[in-house]
Amino acid sequence: MRILLGVTGGIAAYKAVLLLRLLREQGHAVRVIPTRAALEFVGVPTFEALSGEPVSTEVFDDVPGVQHVALGKGADLVIVAPATADFMARAVAGLADDLLTTTLLAARCPVVFAPAMHTEMWDHPATRANVTTLRERGVHVIEPASGRLTGVDTGPGRLPEPEDIAREALSLVQPSLVGRPLVEPVETPEPRDLAGRRVVISAGGTREPIDPVRFIGNRSSGRQGVALAQAAAARGADVTLVAANLAADVTDQVIAGPQPCSVVRVESTAELRDAVRAAGADADVIMMAAAVADFRPAATPDAKIKKVPGQGPAPIVLVENPDILAELAHERLRAGQVVVGFAAETGDESGSVLDHGRTKARRKGADLIAVNAVGAGRGFGTEGNEVTILDGTGDVVGQASGSKREVADALWDAVAKLLP
Ligand code: CTP
Repeated sequence: MRILLGVTGGIAAYKAVLLLRLLREQGHAVRVIPTRAALEFVGVPTFEALSGEPVSTEVFDDVPGVQHVALGKGADLVIVAPATADFMARAVAGLADDLLTTTLLAARCPVVFAPAMHTEMWDHPATRANVTTLRERGVHVIEPASGRLTGVDTGPGRLPEPEDIAREALSLVQPSLVGRPLVEPVETPEPRDLAGRRVVISAGGTREPIDPVRFIGNRSSGRQGVALAQAAAARGADVTLVAANLAADVTDQVIAGPQPCSVVRVESTAELRDAVRAAGADADVIMMAAAVADFRPAATPDAKIKKVPGQGPAPIVLVENPDILAELAHERLRAGQVVVGFAAETGDESGSVLDHGRTKARRKGADLIAVNAVGAGRGFGTEGNEVTILDGTGDVVGQASGSKREVADALWDAVAKLLP
């Protein structure tokens, strides 16, 4: 289905990003049309990266394509989320001073508005009258949720959760979707080649405490590990995700994911090691996708370290952490267990990304190592990934690039070949 996602300028615009992702995961083509004000909250690159489509706010972009008419006419569904009070007033007045308002005038498909604003604005007679008019004209205006608003205030006016907006909006065009899990794959079914297998995946980045309030951490978001967990679960595996400090939107993904996974939350390398070893004792596969700190502060005082006037900073003495992957690979908690690691490399004067990956594959002793280039906007926190899969001797046995889910599936393909 071709969906236009209008985003207007409210703090809830960040939730439009999650909505966009949900709709894309369901296989829909989504074109985002933000207002100028929406771009104060979320940038064009985010919308373009997640939708894979160009994003513009103006009618004067791509004039030969007459996109202000073409977009509206070609859409199967228009969703505006969040819809601010100002935007609804403009829609009622039939204004056409940007790409979103012109597109709405040209659209002949179902149109859904998900309002978000403070309770006073939602209750104001002007907004009430605008909502009534919009509904009379056939716009489906979703009731806002009640709850915590931007500040400390609470009440009706909160943008409903992305899953609820998507479900309600899609039900207007696909009645069969009501009540079905939203992110159920609509394309070809996944292979069930991991059915009955127990897998443990570590994801995210560990934090090593310096004192009760400070830590040494890294930039890993956990996106690749979560994609691995979701791919494995979709292929029938019984998955335990050991999650170290995932980014907020990634945590949402775990919660909203279509497949159930057991999640064990950890912070430090010591906690991660204990959790992986406990869950891994009877696992068929252990996959170490977490970015694990190599070192930790030697001592962690119970009280916050204070600055002493006139004295410089006290040095932080570091000690080496155990190499969890190497331990698991050499020890094998269970006979026949497949152990997989990642090698996050930047390459330097002593060798390329792949050279370092090969050395690491031989040193760690894992069955497979997925080598990926990180740094300078690559790898950590990004949407896509590119990996070369090596065996324990450093030979290339696979290559994958694309979304983190596509990379995950390529890795599971390689793992499945090693399972008895
Ligand atoms: N790893 C681990 N325990 C550690 C460090 C890393 O289990 N103490 C795992 C990671 O989860 C990953 C693999 O080892 O699967 C490689 O991690 P990486 O950070 O690339 O390598 P390091 O071993 O830390 O080596 P270096 O920092 O020298 O690149």
